[in-house]
Amino acid sequence: MAIREVLKMGHPLLKQVSRPVHEFGTRELLDLVVDMEDTVRSLNGAGIAAPQIGVPLRVVIFEVKNNPRYPDAGEVPFTVLVNPELALLGDELEDGWEGCLSVPGLRGLVPRHRRLRYSGYDAHGRPFERTVEGFHARVVQHEVDHLDGILYPMRLRSLLDLGYEDTLFPKGAALPPD
Ligand code: NI
Repeated sequence: MAIREVLKMGHPLLKQVSRPVHEFGTRELLDLVVDMEDTVRSLNGAGIAAPQIGVPLRVVIFEVKNNPRYPDAGEVPFTVLVNPELALLGDELEDGWEGCLSVPGLRGLVPRHRRLRYSGYDAHGRPFERTVEGFHARVVQHEVDHLDGILYPMRLRSLLDLGYEDTLFPKGAALPPD
């Protein structure tokens, strides 16, 4: 399919609440998912949400495979998640560095819930749910935030926790994923 332009912070579509998907398995939805996959892979991102390529639907994809750029992240299987619902488990928060393809060049230290259960559908409308923690839980929270018009800088405890990645991580080692 196609690598699409990723909208950047400030674009009105990134501030909107996206609409649920009502029809599954359509050419339109399957093509959207392929475009999201092509786009996120081309940029070595960990995930992307449909509004980031200008489509205001509740669709996110994510994947973290063994990657030397971020050895501590653990593996997250390739997942297409449509109409996600999150159930936060417990009150425990964990700080971690995040980046975002819509906020290029910056990283921020973001508190997220450590454990959660998420549920939703794949692109064919098959329901599934998972209970996850740590980086997997972080990625899901980051991507689902996009569907509600929230970018990670809005989650920072302080703007002191935001910076340029080449300054925060000058050797490129242990660079956290986008
Ligand atoms: Ni993002």
